[in-house]
Amino acid sequence: MIREVLRDLIDKLSEDELREIYNLIKLARENAGLAYEYLARLSRRRLGRHTPMRGSMPPLVKRYVNAEVVSLPPPRFARRLSVEDAIISRRSRRSFRDEPLTLEEISTLLYLTAGISRWIYGAYGLARFPLRTYPSAGALQPVELYLSAHSVAGLRPGLYHYNPVDHVLEKLREGDFSRRLIDIALGQEHVGEAPATVIMTVYWARTRWKYGDRAYRYAMLDAGFAGENLYLACEALGLGTCAVGAFYDDELCELLEIDCVDEIPVLMFPVGRPSNAEET
Ligand SMILES: Cc1cc2nc3c(=O)[nH]c(=O)nc-3n(C[C@H](O)[C@H](O)[C@H](O)COP(=O)(O)O)c2cc1C
Repeated sequence: MIREVLRDLIDKLSEDELREIYNLIKLARENAGLAYEYLARLSRRRLGRHTPMRGSMPPLVKRYVNAEVVSLPPPRFARRLSVEDAIISRRSRRSFRDEPLTLEEISTLLYLTAGISRWIYGAYGLARFPLRTYPSAGALQPVELYLSAHSVAGLRPGLYHYNPVDHVLEKLREGDFSRRLIDIALGQEHVGEAPATVIMTVYWARTRWKYGDRAYRYAMLDAGFAGENLYLACEALGLGTCAVGAFYDDELCELLEIDCVDEIPVLMFPVGRPSNAEET
């Protein structure tokens, strides 16, 4: 059956298209990334594929309109550390003291990672257009932040989504999801032992709207920039974190109730006060 369908498809393809598919299959069997890079390669021949911009721009900010909202205190910038010092002292830290975080620390961390640092007029025809603390391809801002709170003073344990427009948390579900996160992260204990874990996704459909095949690469880069913000913000706040990329995607998507197609998880960041052993 599949053979027949494929044979039928092949009959309808041009020599050029056949060659492209052949190359793609050869590359994909070696490594999926090679196949993606082949398809996303920007050449004059392929340029048309990269700028579709069909239909209206997807919303720049995800909102859970019916969710209970938790106000965050204003971010506080103690300026204890220079950027130079934060860059040099940054390390991945996987062991945390058994102490709660404060809501002010969470507020500052989320703001510095992916908050709105300026509003401009007129971009993409919008009267008010946000810009973020991280640079973003086409300013399309695919990064979404979720928080799994395990021990944060003044915040019930649960799953939250960060809404940068109002600088609030939207409550998705109450409960302690620390054990579940450890299981999803292939048993990595630090993901659940921290008082809070930030989960970063990219809603890359936003970037795809403008950049087509190139979008996946750009969205990953955006996430990398925001991830470094998070690391450096932790250093500045006297906190520690570790980027965690090893996790079962489908299970994390199920926990966050996202589709794993237009929005995909990219990294988890357990956050806490580093234990003495980690402070050196
Ligand atoms: C994309 C990415 C994925 C990572 N995944 C994990 C992970 O799953 N578990 C973990 O403990 N560390 C993970 N790390 C942290 C690296 O192991 C760490 O950055 C590296 O050992 C260098 O140490 P440093 O960050 O202290 O310089 C990841 C880092 C990056 C950038």
